[in-house]
Amino acid sequence: MGRSIEKTNEQITTLNKILDQVNEIIKWGIIGPGKISHKFASDLKLVDGSVLTAVASRDLSRAQAFADQYEASNAYGSYDEILEDSDIDILYIATPHTFHAEWAIKALNHGKNILCEKPLGINKSEVKSIIECARKNNCFMMEALWSRFNPTIIDCLNKIEKGIIGEPNHITADFTFYNNPSEEGRLLNMDLAGGSLLDIGIYPIFLAYLILGMPESIKAHGIFHHNTGADIQVSTSLLYKNATAQLSSSIMTQSEMVAKIAGKKGAIYLDSRWHEAKGYTIKTAENEEHIGKPIIGFGYSHEIIECVDCIRKGKKESEKWTHQNSLDLITIMDQIRSEIGLKYPFE
Ligand SMILES: NC(=O)c1ccc[n+]([C@@H]2O[C@H](COP(=O)([O-])OP(=O)(O)OC[C@H]3O[C@@H](n4cnc5c(N)ncnc54)[C@H](OP(=O)(O)O)[C@@H]3O)[C@@H](O)[C@H]2O)c1
Repeated sequence: MGRSIEKTNEQITTLNKILDQVNEIIKWGIIGPGKISHKFASDLKLVDGSVLTAVASRDLSRAQAFADQYEASNAYGSYDEILEDSDIDILYIATPHTFHAEWAIKALNHGKNILCEKPLGINKSEVKSIIECARKNNCFMMEALWSRFNPTIIDCLNKIEKGIIGEPNHITADFTFYNNPSEEGRLLNMDLAGGSLLDIGIYPIFLAYLILGMPESIKAHGIFHHNTGADIQVSTSLLYKNATAQLSSSIMTQSEMVAKIAGKKGAIYLDSRWHEAKGYTIKTAENEEHIGKPIIGFGYSHEIIECVDCIRKGKKESEKWTHQNSLDLITIMDQIRSEIGLKYPFE
């Protein structure tokens, strides 16, 4: 009797899997139900063919509360448990930076596809290990560089390729905010690789890299927290053969956060806050035009759509944000850290 019930359950599970494949439903799991995971889970609901099935926290009650809020069927009280859930197609890793490599590698070794929060690793060596592990396990893996999929940024790239502003030769971009951070919080905690550079400085560097590629040389200055030593402000100057970029990040400054990409024929101004822009202005000698580009939800939906599309097509990396792109980005950040003398205690 027991054996026949077991067999029926197995058959139901197999049937459900076949139905999911037919309907192409991509099932997501989340590791680390913190601030960003809430926004992510809310956007996940807006993407057709995507469903949140499981969430893992270091504390079962936090996982259960999150699962209840976003209607996930499974809640786990440890990260290890979610790795054993064979129902999951892709895991979103949203822990503090210092745990990205550990959980990305564990998940990939369990055959899980992953979308891992930025920065993919805290240095080049970690990012390389994750990429090698993804390739070894033949899994899809992408850094959650969500701005790459922002409709404004995609449209601007197309306009730049068409030569509307001429060859881009100057970029200014910043990412700043001030919310009176506590010395105990993630942002100022050096043990969690806190500070502005890895948390938000990554965005202006990403923009310069996306438009201009790898710089020929890098100069940078940093200001550090008087107690914890975390970088609270970083100013970077990138030099290219025929272009320059002035980039900055700060967790002690309020600014407008309009990014500018300029060339001989004109300039593009990405609306504030540019990394999640809903439009941009193009100014040339002849014309000035504002173009609106709405985002879906908070804007995380666009990277979710990319993952779903890649997994359905059997791709192991996105063509829009490749493994090499993640490696290049962390290479630039490592160089900036070396310029300003920023080392984390565990390095
Ligand atoms: N794409 C974006 O727009 C965006 C925005 C913000 C942040 N991020 C990235 O997402 C990651 C998480 O950021 P967040 O602001 O969501 O962080 P958070 O709320 O401080 O932490 C995320 C979760 O990580 C888990 N965690 C595991 N080990 C931890 C530890 N030792 N200390 C604290 N938490 C720990 C916690 O969940 P449990 O204890 O419940 O397991 C926590 O809720 C960061 O790497 C950040 O760069 C991305």
